[in-house]
Formats: sequence, C-alpha cells, structure tokens
Amino acid sequence: MSQPFGSYQNEIYLDGLSGVVPRFPLLHSELEAKAQAAMPPSVWSYVAGGAGDEHTQRANTAAFQRWGLIPRMLVGAAERDLSVDVCGMALPSPLFMVPVGVLGICTQDGHGDLAAARAAARTGVPMVASTLSADPMEEVAAEFGATPGIFQLYTPTDRELAESLVHRAERAGFQAIVVTLDTWITGWRPRDLATGNFPQLRGHCLANYTSDPVFRARLGRAPEEDPRAATLLWAQLFGNPLTWDDLPWLRSLTELPLILKGLCHPEDVRRAKDLGVDGIYCSTHGGRQANGGLPALDALPGVVEAADGLPVLFDSGVRSGADVIKAIALGATAVGVGRPLAHGLALGGVDGAVHVLRSLLAEADLIMAVDGYPTLADLTPDALQRVT
Ligand code: FNR
Repeated sequence: MSQPFGSYQNEIYLDGLSGVVPRFPLLHSELEAKAQAAMPPSVWSYVAGGAGDEHTQRANTAAFQRWGLIPRMLVGAAERDLSVDVCGMALPSPLFMVPVGVLGICTQDGHGDLAAARAAARTGVPMVASTLSADPMEEVAAEFGATPGIFQLYTPTDRELAESLVHRAERAGFQAIVVTLDTWITGWRPRDLATGNFPQLRGHCLANYTSDPVFRARLGRAPEEDPRAATLLWAQLFGNPLTWDDLPWLRSLTELPLILKGLCHPEDVRRAKDLGVDGIYCSTHGGRQANGGLPALDALPGVVEAADGLPVLFDSGVRSGADVIKAIALGATAVGVGRPLAHGLALGGVDGAVHVLRSLLAEADLIMAVDGYPTLADLTPDALQRVT
C-alpha cells in the first residue's frame, strides 16, 4: 500500500527536526488571511465575495459545525481506504478540485489553471477545469499526468459553440463533463458591484473561447487583433438559460459521463436521473449566486436519497478534512474544495495547491484513524450526531 494520506504530518514533523517549518499555513483562517495579502485586491474580492450580504456563503461553512462525528474505539483502523469510483474514474480519495473560473489569475504568474492541473498530477486529486480559464483546456489537460480530469461547461447560447467546447474536451482527454446550471446569469454580488469588478469583462480567463474555431468564426477576425470585440462577443454568448427541454440535446453531445452541477432539490435530481445523466453535483456555488438559500450541506441528504445510487458530488463550504468526512457521511461520493484551493495557488502556485490538498487529505485520513472509521463505507449518517 502507498503511504497513507496522514503521513504528510510525519514529513512535517521530520522537517521540524532540522528546523524547517511548513511554508504554508495549516489552518484555513491563516491561509485565507495570507492569500488576501498576496492577491491583487480585485482578484481577492472576486474570490472572497458572494451574493447579497453573504449570508448563504457563511451558512455553507457554518452547516458543518452542526454535525459531530461519533468516535468508535478498538477498531484498529491502522489502514484506511479512501479510494472511490466516480463515474468510472478510479480515484485514490473522494477529494476533487471544484471549477473556479479565475484560477488562472490567482497565481502570481497568471497560469493558475496549469498550476492546479500540475497539483492534480502530483496528488491524484482530480481537477474540474472551468470553461473560464486563462489557458486553453488542451494545455490544462496536458498537465494532468495520470490523474483523470473533468471539464466544466458553461453552456453558451450558441449551440455550435457548446458542441465545439465539449468535443474539444473529449479530444483533450477529459473523462467527464460537468454542466453548471446555476450561473447562466450572474447573481447580485455587492462586493464586485461596489468596485465595478467583473474579471471576464476585463478580458480575463477567456482562453477557451478565443482559442475556439467556432468562436473565432463568429468573431470574424483574430481575437488578438480586437480583444474588446472578443470580450463583447463572449458577453453575448456566455449565459444560456437552459430548461429541461435542453437536457436531451446536452445528453446527446457526448458519451462521456454527464454530471449536472447546482442541483439541490430532490425533484430536480429525480428528473435529471430520468433524463439519463450519470452524476449529480450538489452545490450552492459557494453562496456566490443566490443569497437566502439553504446551506448546501443541508440539501445533501435529500439529494443523495433522490439520486438513488447515482454518484453525488458535493461542494460549498468545505474548509477542512473534518468537513470532507462529514459530507461523505451525509452521502456524498466525492467532495470538492473551492476557495482554499484559490488561496493555496495564490500563496505558492503548484506547491501551495498541493499543500492545501494534502492537508485536507491528511486530516480526513487521521480522523478516520482516530475515530475508527477505516473505510468510506463506514462513514454513514449513523456516524454523525447533530450537535446544535
Ligand atoms: C466559482 N465557482 C464556479 N463554478 C463553476 O461551475 N464554474 C466556474 O467557473 C466557477 N467559478 C468560480 C469562481 C470563484 C472565484 C469561486 C469562489 C467559485 C463555484 C465553485 O465551483 C464551487 O461551487 C464553490 O467554490 C464552492 O464554494 P466554496 O467551498 O469555495 O466556498
């Protein structure tokens, strides 16, 4: 068996014997504070901000505090198995990197998508690569190594462009497609509104469009010659208010596993399942899209029940290994890390992202060891108790 994820702490303690302490913070609050200092203010506020007064964003993280894992003793969980199958992808752990449309500009070198992809190669943690990236998806996928990758589609209004993006993802070797449903229009985001700050409208992270033959044909000239026209065309094509009637078309685009992101209502989950999707992705978009909603974690059990055996990916509010464990116990098949990934990239590029991922995995693994839950299958709702 390869080294357990928890062995990251042994590396750190051993380094400590020669006076070397970790380069990056171990606690999320410190990671966040340092990342704020490292990022340009406009990028920081875009990453940190959410919808309205950010109540739902805070509720996403607070929801995890209302559950406690019940320790079990004399289990002898000397070896833990965190491996999982998600839509045919055999993964060493249930952790994945969520799609974040500004990863590109989170690193100091402006190539954060490539850095995240390299972190995927180093850790085995798959990346869900956003449509909104600073480097084209082919170049991102080329960095994945042996780790599978997933492409996240923001479905444009132009169907041919959507088809082109999906087929490029297939050719680039992505192994599943996530279609995000909750962001065909931007939610009301006071932090960004206050500074008139919308990164894509400033021309950032549009490489998948400007490199696309359909997009280029629509533009009628090279985007490099007229970046402003390219950005305006992007703004016209970006958001498609999809309905259930569009789902058969989306399904027909690819034989890759199709996963719908943003589903929180059991009825939507059942309907998606009936229409032939392969996975459900329960998320409130980190509270960025609509304020006043319920925390994603509270929606998870109903989604899992309705998914009735389909894999359920989950994100929104995951900040620690303990959070990963709780989401698994509430039925998630795989758990996504979002903002902490952006923070790690801002602080240390590939190394910062690897640190964030390894820390989450180490904590999750060590909780399973200490609390006597040797496999993910042992983590059921019965392992949790409501604490408030
Ligand atoms: C996102 N998210 C997102 N989702 C998506 O499907 N495509 C995207 O391009 C983006 N872009 C994006 C940018 C930024 C700055 C953030 C913070 C988030 C949502 C993301 O996939 C995920 O749902 C949230 O990040 C989960 O919330 P937390 O845990 O990061 O707070």
